[in-house]
Amino acid sequence: MAAPYPVDPLLSGPFAPIRMECDCADLILEGDLPRGLEGTLYRIGPNPQFAPRGAYNPLQGDGMIHAFRLEGGRVSYRNRWVRTRQWSLEREAGRALFATADPRDHDPSVAGVRSQGAANTHIVAHAGRLLALEEGHPPIEIEADTLETRGPYDFGGRLPGPMTAHPKFDPATGEMLFFANFPDRRFDGALSLYVADAAGEIVRAERVPGPYPALVHDFAVTESHVVFVVCPLILSLERLQAGAAPIAWEPERGAFVGVLPRAAAGSEVRWSPAPAGMAWHMLNAFEADGRIHIDLCQQAAPAFPKPDGTAAPEEELRQFLTRWTVDLRGDAPVAVRRLSGTVCEYPRMDERRSGRSYRYGFVACLGGPGTGDLAHRGIGRFDHATGQMRIWTAGEGQAISEPVFTPRPGSSEEGDGYLLATIYDEPRRASCLAVFDAGQVETGPLARAWLDHRVPAGFHGSFGERGRAQADA
Ligand SMILES: [Fe+2]
Repeated sequence: MAAPYPVDPLLSGPFAPIRMECDCADLILEGDLPRGLEGTLYRIGPNPQFAPRGAYNPLQGDGMIHAFRLEGGRVSYRNRWVRTRQWSLEREAGRALFATADPRDHDPSVAGVRSQGAANTHIVAHAGRLLALEEGHPPIEIEADTLETRGPYDFGGRLPGPMTAHPKFDPATGEMLFFANFPDRRFDGALSLYVADAAGEIVRAERVPGPYPALVHDFAVTESHVVFVVCPLILSLERLQAGAAPIAWEPERGAFVGVLPRAAAGSEVRWSPAPAGMAWHMLNAFEADGRIHIDLCQQAAPAFPKPDGTAAPEEELRQFLTRWTVDLRGDAPVAVRRLSGTVCEYPRMDERRSGRSYRYGFVACLGGPGTGDLAHRGIGRFDHATGQMRIWTAGEGQAISEPVFTPRPGSSEEGDGYLLATIYDEPRRASCLAVFDAGQVETGPLARAWLDHRVPAGFHGSFGERGRAQADA
């Protein structure tokens, strides 16, 4: 008999897990779906199958995929957990065996069982494969139609360890570039860089020395460079061995930006110092006039305390769209400039401009860390040409996901397309897929396709034609 979930804000309201998998052939539709918009939105997030053991860390909650297929004017839906090794063992046991926050809370019966990770952070398609990603482990391959788990995927043995949940796709070459943090478990700050060609073969692997062992969640790729933003959220083996929390915020060590020419050996990376600040997600990066501009969502400090246990003031957790600029022609420190006063996270863009100069960024906003509300209540479109953020407010009791952009079929103009997001309507206790005109975010959804249940607040997603990523098309 499954036990109740504990009282925890990350297991309640928009974040509360659901315990069933289902198919729905034809969702009830309000509004009009844009003509010609066909494909599947895949979203993924933590959805622990059972009440967690000990404290709950959503970064290790079992991944669940939600797939909305738009076809012939209808929207169908399917959701499935990713069948990782630990998910299957727990299914058989009827309870949680693996702790999400502290491995010392694992059930003794799984001592020595190697985790395959939670596969809960991002889901992307490349070279005909749909991959569920979580940064501490290799991808898990998913069948694009049925959402069946095919199992861990290591690129034919070329990926020896973990893979970031935020690979980047070069729209010109079809390559997928990605990195791995702590690739060889030496915790010396080195990162690995991989390049998979358009056919999905890993054709390059480089070891990139870094300033210190930090949590690095995302990176950026421009036309000619790979860019790493390393913030001082540092993992210490000494702290771990002393029984203390191994990860701590150490702002006095500053942040760094590493720039590596795409064709160069990893040892040629050049690190530039930057003021301490925390960024989980990059919007985009591009080169102009001998500089690299990196647009990201930055908070003054993360929710992790300092080594002495001091937590940052709540307002420092707020995330703002910010530009970091590295001058490739000298040794100047990285210049930092806030782009918008709107608190926001989950930045996305028209990926046809990925790594290039661009105009628009799309974000989830109005909520999130430091605001007193863990959920986001709106989406925004930031326009670099005007410096303005246009916002649609979803309203009280409405929690909205990261918006995923897809171009209007046949268009080539940046930003001409649609945003797809899920909205959880708390009073209705149900979620919908919402489709927006990306050029007029502030006017609200063009269409909503309703489920009878909640899509728990998740992390990231991709839109593609039957599992093919846009970058793949
Ligand atoms: Fe992420």
